[in-house]
Amino acid sequence: MRTKVVIVGAGPAGLLLGRLLDTHGIDNVILERRSPDYVLGRIRAGVLERGTVELLERSGVAERLHREGLVHNGVELSFDGHRQRLDFLALVGKTVTVYGQTEVTHDLMDARAASHATTVYEAENVTLHGFDSASPSVRYEKGGVGHEIACDFIAGCDGFHGASRASVPDKALSTFERVYPFGWLGVLVEKPPVSDELIYANHERGFALCSMRSPTRSRYYVQVSTDEHVEAWSDERFWDELRNRLDAETAGRLQTGASMEKSIAPLRSFVAEPMRFGSLFLAGDAAHIVPPTGAKGLNLAAHDVGLLADALIEFYEERSQAGIDAYSARALERVWNAERFSWWMTSILHRLPETDAFGRRIQKAELDNLRLSRGAASAFAESYTGAIAAS
Ligand code: FAD
Ligand code: DHB
Repeated sequence: MRTKVVIVGAGPAGLLLGRLLDTHGIDNVILERRSPDYVLGRIRAGVLERGTVELLERSGVAERLHREGLVHNGVELSFDGHRQRLDFLALVGKTVTVYGQTEVTHDLMDARAASHATTVYEAENVTLHGFDSASPSVRYEKGGVGHEIACDFIAGCDGFHGASRASVPDKALSTFERVYPFGWLGVLVEKPPVSDELIYANHERGFALCSMRSPTRSRYYVQVSTDEHVEAWSDERFWDELRNRLDAETAGRLQTGASMEKSIAPLRSFVAEPMRFGSLFLAGDAAHIVPPTGAKGLNLAAHDVGLLADALIEFYEERSQAGIDAYSARALERVWNAERFSWWMTSILHRLPETDAFGRRIQKAELDNLRLSRGAASAFAESYTGAIAAS
C-alpha cells in the first residue's frame, strides 16, 4: 500500500491533521493503537483558544462546537478564599471556548468516517522506517497480520508514549524536562457548574480548579501528591477536599453528585527538539508536554498541525519545501512560549516543595500583581487566550 502521509495516532493532533490534508485532497492514512471507544473515553482538555477554533472551522467540523461550546470572556483566580476576576475581553479583546476534547475528537472522527479516508484502529507494533532516506515507510500489525505502507512523509502524532519520538536516534534529539511531585485528581459530574467561569484556586492545602463541559456537566480537579491512588478517593472525600480549597461562597453553591469519571493525571513539562527528522515530523504531545494549568496542551497540538498541514499543502500544491524546512523552528517558538506560561501558572497556583512561608508570600504577590497591574493582567490574558500565537 502507498499513501502520501502516514499519520501515527488518532488523538486530536492526528485527526485534525488528517482532516486538514483531506480538505486539500492529500491522501493520508491514520494508524491508531487503540479502539475508537477507548480514544473517546479519555477525559482531558476543556478549553480551546480562538486559533484552535479557527482550525476546526477551516476543517469544516465546527458546527456543533458553535452550537454547544461555551464562550468565556474571563476566568477567576482565588487565593485563600479571595477571588479576583481577569476579564480577557476587556484586557485583550479575546475569549476562549469551553468545549471538551472528547467532543472535538468525536466531531473529527465523524468527519473522517464520512470522507472514507483510511483509519486503522487497533494497529499494533507500529514501526517507522527510512525517514532519513528517500523511501520512508510505516509497518504495523492488525489481527496478527503484518502490513507496510510506503509514503512521502510520516507525522508522529502519537502522544508522549508513542512510537514516533522513540524511533529517533538519541543523538539526534535534545530533551528538556521538569517533573512535578504532584498530579491532578479530576472528577466529571452531571451537575451544573458552580460558576459561569472557571475558577483556579490556590489554597494552603493545594491547588483546585472548577471547570465545566456544558451547562449541566462539570469538571473539577484538586492537586494531589504523585503517590496518591484514585481508589483512595471516594466521591465524598473528593468533594470535601474541593470545598475546603474554595472560598466559602463558592463552596456553599457547589452541587455534588456521583462521579462519572475520576482519574489522576501527572504533571510534566517536556520538550523534544527538533520536531523534524528528514521526512518525519513530530506534532502535539509526541513532541512536548505542558502541565495542564493554563489549558495549553490541546491548543499547542492544534497549532503544530496547523503549521504542518500548511507546510505539506505548500509542498504538494506549490512544490515548495519552505514550510517544511521552517516547521520545527516555527512550532518550537510557540511551544516554548506556552511552556513558559504553563510552568509559571503552575508555580503560582500549586503547593510546591519550595512553597515555604516566603514562597507563599511570593505566590500571593504574583496574584496581587495581576490585580494591581493592567500590564501584568493583559500579559496573562494574551497567554491564556493564545492571542500571542496569532503573530
Ligand atoms: P494524544 O491525545 O495523546 O493522542 C495520541 C494518540 O496516539 C492516542 O490516541 C494514542 O492511543 C495513539 N498512540 C500512542 N502510541 C501509539 C502507537 N505506538 N501507535 C499508534 N498509535 C499510538 N490541553 C488543553 O489545550 N486544554 C485543556 O484544558 C487541557 N486539559 C487537560 C487536562 C488533563 C487532565 C490532561 C491529562 C490533559 C489536558 N490537556 C489540555 C492536554 C491535552 O489533553 C493533550 O495535550 C492532547 O491530548 C494532545 O493531543 P495529541 O493528539 O497530541 O496526543
Ligand atoms: C480544564 C483543564 C485545564 O488544564 C484547564 O487549565 C482548564 C480546564 C478542563 O479539563 O476543563
